[in-house]
Amino acid sequence: MPTDIDIEASGASPAIKSIPNPEFNADGKHRAVREMFAEIAPKYDRLNHLLSINIDKLWRQFTVNQLMDVISHPDAIALDLCCGTADLTLELEKHVTVIGCDFCHPMLVIGNDKIAGRKTKKAMLAEGDALHLPFADKSFDAVTIAFGLRNLEQVEKGLVEILRVLKPGGRAAVLEFSRPVLPVFRQVFEFYFHHMLPRIGAFISGSSSAYSYLPQSVRNFPDQKKLATIMKHVGFSNVHYHNLSAGIAALHLGERQAD
Ligand SMILES: C[S@@+](CC[C@H](N)C(=O)[O-])C[C@H]1O[C@@H](n2cnc3c(N)ncnc32)[C@H](O)[C@@H]1O
Repeated sequence: MPTDIDIEASGASPAIKSIPNPEFNADGKHRAVREMFAEIAPKYDRLNHLLSINIDKLWRQFTVNQLMDVISHPDAIALDLCCGTADLTLELEKHVTVIGCDFCHPMLVIGNDKIAGRKTKKAMLAEGDALHLPFADKSFDAVTIAFGLRNLEQVEKGLVEILRVLKPGGRAAVLEFSRPVLPVFRQVFEFYFHHMLPRIGAFISGSSSAYSYLPQSVRNFPDQKKLATIMKHVGFSNVHYHNLSAGIAALHLGERQAD
């Protein structure tokens, strides 16, 4: 069930009319997620880099490095799904022609402004839904999705769509928050993530809900091993993952089997 909350009535942030249900595959998440990102779009980049002390940039670079063998040929084309303000799209663009796709128009507007300033012109953005991708089967050499999969109303369906649009032999890269693997570090990080981050995020973004949704949705999302199992179940081959920053995030890689 959607957790539509009339925040005006509750006296919190006056702007957001509904917040997403942070549960895995929650019904109604779709619309609430889009509204939430539309609301925080103008502050999204600044908060991302601030709250992660810029480590998110290193994670995106690592993601692209893991795709180099499939994107380095001259005709290669990549899709960056749930591209938001296009940070990963632009990291990919240094190496390959890329389409960024997202269903939140205000996030894409900011991404487009960044793309407009680039000389290479190898990136473009498209408005589209990750659960019904507007692309033909077997179109892309690589598909990335960074901090997007957790927000889908149907995670498995999103993975099936990724597999569908990958060329045989193509590779998917799923970058997502995960579970820190070192016990003491995990406790310290979880205190920051669940208690400090929502306050800092609320203060800067003006949205008291979006940065509470983030840690709650991460808690409800499958851990590293479970996500790898889901990817195998959906049909990816060579599934494996890298823990990033001791498991704060994880990069899962999987391939569409060659024909
Ligand atoms: C946390 S942001 C990540 C943005 C970007 N990938 C990054 O690394 O900063 C999640 C993005 O996923 C998009 N999104 C969520 N569900 C989607 C869906 N069903 N179809 C397309 N985009 C979606 C949101 O609009 C938002 O821009």
